[in-house]
Amino acid sequence: MAIDAPAARPANPRFSSGPCTKIPGFSLDMLNDAPLGRSHRATIGKAKLKEAIETTREILGVPADYRIGIVPASDTGAVEMALWSLLGARKATMCAWESFGSGWVTDVVKQLKIDAEVKTAEYGDIVDFADVDFNTDVVFTWNGTTSGVRVPNGDAIPADREGLTICDATSAAFAMELPWDKLDVTTFSWQKVLGGEGGHGVLILSPRAVERLENYAPAWPLPKIFRMTKGGKLIEGIFKGETINTPSMLCVEDYLVSLNWAKSVGGLKGLVERANANAKAVWDFCDARDWIANLANDPATASTTSVCVKFTDDRIKDGAAFAKAVAKRLEAEGVGLDLGAYRDAPAGLRIWCGSTVEEADVEALLPWIEYAFEAEIAAQA
Ligand SMILES: Cc1ncc(COP(=O)(O)O)c(C=O)c1O
Repeated sequence: MAIDAPAARPANPRFSSGPCTKIPGFSLDMLNDAPLGRSHRATIGKAKLKEAIETTREILGVPADYRIGIVPASDTGAVEMALWSLLGARKATMCAWESFGSGWVTDVVKQLKIDAEVKTAEYGDIVDFADVDFNTDVVFTWNGTTSGVRVPNGDAIPADREGLTICDATSAAFAMELPWDKLDVTTFSWQKVLGGEGGHGVLILSPRAVERLENYAPAWPLPKIFRMTKGGKLIEGIFKGETINTPSMLCVEDYLVSLNWAKSVGGLKGLVERANANAKAVWDFCDARDWIANLANDPATASTTSVCVKFTDDRIKDGAAFAKAVAKRLEAEGVGLDLGAYRDAPAGLRIWCGSTVEEADVEALLPWIEYAFEAEIAAQA
């Protein structure tokens, strides 16, 4: 039975999983301090890039002996730079449980043609890390953005591993705790949890990853954009803000503004709590209803950023068309933008609950999902 439209609306209807909603209260005036029209190699440009690196370190709690670099081509650029530069020295294990992880499998198996064991799980589950050989180089995604499933913690990764761990953490960094001692390569992009802009990636390297870079040269050619060493030595400048090529100083300023906001909400702890509260609001909503469920099968691995939900009502005739219609209705009402599940994922909705999202907006969205669900059930009949 169709129900009345809720009285309240989210003040901010942006729930996209990337680019994610900007920090609360964002306005373009906040970017007035960007050194536009100046060289990124001028003192001011370099200072901004260095500040971005050091504030990232401070908020994420990255150890002092890990390198942090700002690299081109967003998270994809950072991940592929790592895969092309580091893999091939030993066997690899590729872990994938959604489409981005599957993309890294394609890179390694089909493009680089590396000897790799591929471990996969269906949407809603993750690979069992107890079965992974960490004496191989292991590539995995911390949070599967398109499946709403994450690695719960780093406990299964041994401290004395011989291989490197390469972790795509783009939808986790700044919303989830990351165990730095268990991660040799970590990547993310600005457009995700902090609501920054597209185009720029961050690559974080442990001392063991640097050691590999300095002692191993892959058999394949590396484009300039991927090259992190010269004459067998790490190009240290990259990790001090001397970027390989030209970054957008407007995007750098925007990232700095986001980082300052992150500090103002209590740093990493505050950011994690914000995402947790947002996700819990969705989980509680699903638990209290029998027509909607989390796509994540095990609550321990349920994402707190990209929360994916599926409709489980027997009356639904065509699952994919139904979910699309619900998302379309929410968008048309102006209460929830970009909520459709990822194109390769099971039908449903994906509600971004990352740190820049306000809990009040999630709370205001949920009754609208019920409203749109009932309206579409009625429309089917
Ligand atoms: C897990 C994961 N990896 C990689 C990407 C690609 O990120 P980018 O577009 O920043 O390169 C995304 C984007 O949504 C993602 O969610």
